[in-house]
Amino acid sequence: MMSPMLSGVCLSLLAAPGLAFVGTPFIAQQVRHAPAPTSRSVTGSSRPRASTRMVATPDKVGTGVKRNENFAKLKAGYLFPGIAKRRNAYLEANPDCRPIISLGIGDTTQPIPPHILSGLVGGAKTLGTKEGYTGYGAEQGKADIREKISEKLYNGLIKPDEVFVSDGAKCDIGRLQMMFGSGVVSAVQDPSYPVYVDTSVMVGQTGEVNEETMQYDNIVYMPCKPSNDFFPDLKALPHADVIYFCSPNNPTGAVATREQLEALVAHANAKGSIVVFDAAYAPFIRTPGVPKSIFEIEGSRTCCIEVNSFSKYAGFTGARLGWTVIPNEVKFSDGTPVRNDFNRVMTTAFNGASNIVQSGGMTCLDDEGMAEIDTLMDYYLENAKILKEGIESCGFKSHGGKDAPYVYVDLEGKASWDVFSEILEKAQVVTIPGAGFGPGGEGFLRLSAFAPRESCVEAVERLRAVLA
Ligand SMILES: Cc1ncc(COP(=O)(O)O)c(C=O)c1O
Repeated sequence: MMSPMLSGVCLSLLAAPGLAFVGTPFIAQQVRHAPAPTSRSVTGSSRPRASTRMVATPDKVGTGVKRNENFAKLKAGYLFPGIAKRRNAYLEANPDCRPIISLGIGDTTQPIPPHILSGLVGGAKTLGTKEGYTGYGAEQGKADIREKISEKLYNGLIKPDEVFVSDGAKCDIGRLQMMFGSGVVSAVQDPSYPVYVDTSVMVGQTGEVNEETMQYDNIVYMPCKPSNDFFPDLKALPHADVIYFCSPNNPTGAVATREQLEALVAHANAKGSIVVFDAAYAPFIRTPGVPKSIFEIEGSRTCCIEVNSFSKYAGFTGARLGWTVIPNEVKFSDGTPVRNDFNRVMTTAFNGASNIVQSGGMTCLDDEGMAEIDTLMDYYLENAKILKEGIESCGFKSHGGKDAPYVYVDLEGKASWDVFSEILEKAQVVTIPGAGFGPGGEGFLRLSAFAPRESCVEAVERLRAVLA
């Protein structure tokens, strides 16, 4: 029952002069305006006083809330919006230029294939039925999709209750960092997907960035370059508690061999570290014998977590569906299973992946869905081949692009932001400068194969015209 006082307030609000409610907007639409009072009628003088202003005057800079000092440590903005800003600035200055081709952000462009789509459509339709409607679901994901991921992707090597279904790998990396907190040291491949470093900074694991090396204090940077086959010298590394490792790698396109992953797992077990293995590009691997999951490696169940996603597999970058696997044997130093704390994060700070999209995930994992994923991967891998051959025909060496959708171009000493700008201005092609992925990426450029085929073909023609 509404209290008499509250109902009085509601009634008087409804009856307020000048307000009429149309439909269900959150803010009542004002359909009749009372005449605005003149400054004389408010203040008794013709000069408006500062204190009567509705909007703060410029000398007031903010609220009394102190900014989180970790955010002040972050250098510039997140990489990809920064690239989009430069592209937009170029477009504004050159409105009549030919259409820009994007080989930049790794966003998929091909439509979701029919069988997989039927799952999404079916999931949405079910919500429109009395019997099929569901609201909040389990924060860890529906039992059926956890079982299917366990069975179809991990051959039963991983138990369904070790799988946490989510809204994507990027979000899971952020939530893992929330769980690890500020007291751990993280190690990253250098260069690497920027989310590992930026979230380490945000949760307070790091000091300031060193302006000379462009490395944050208290992060272990693991150099990954052509001279070490893009795999770090593990024995030379300072201790790190959590090691972020991505294969196939963004941005280098390198894939770690079985022997390399065995060395990584042995290192983690020996040093008491946890590996967060990012397998977002796993189905691009075509070379026989190269592991697609860290759980193919013996000893991984005691020290590895895997983050994964349907984003690149199935064109779900917008639909959003990922998962994280944490075996029951991975434990903190006090014996607490890591899985338990991640479960606490998921149940507190996440409310379950969309039931519609989980239904799409189910069709991804049908045999027809898996075949459609293979066809999509073949398409992007053919693009990668076109880009790789194209850039090499301009006289550049390149890496990746074989088991990965990224071609990593060696600029032989040139500054990557300079070459990025030169290519944008002369060829109207957007790429990503390697330096955006960490100091180890300087001197390299990343080309993404997620563009449509015709864009890749035309980009190569344009690059040949300006670079060859
Ligand atoms: C290495 C890596 N991990 C994770 C992601 C993000 O995946 P999701 O779309 O599932 O958040 C990306 C996206 O580019 C990526 O490159």
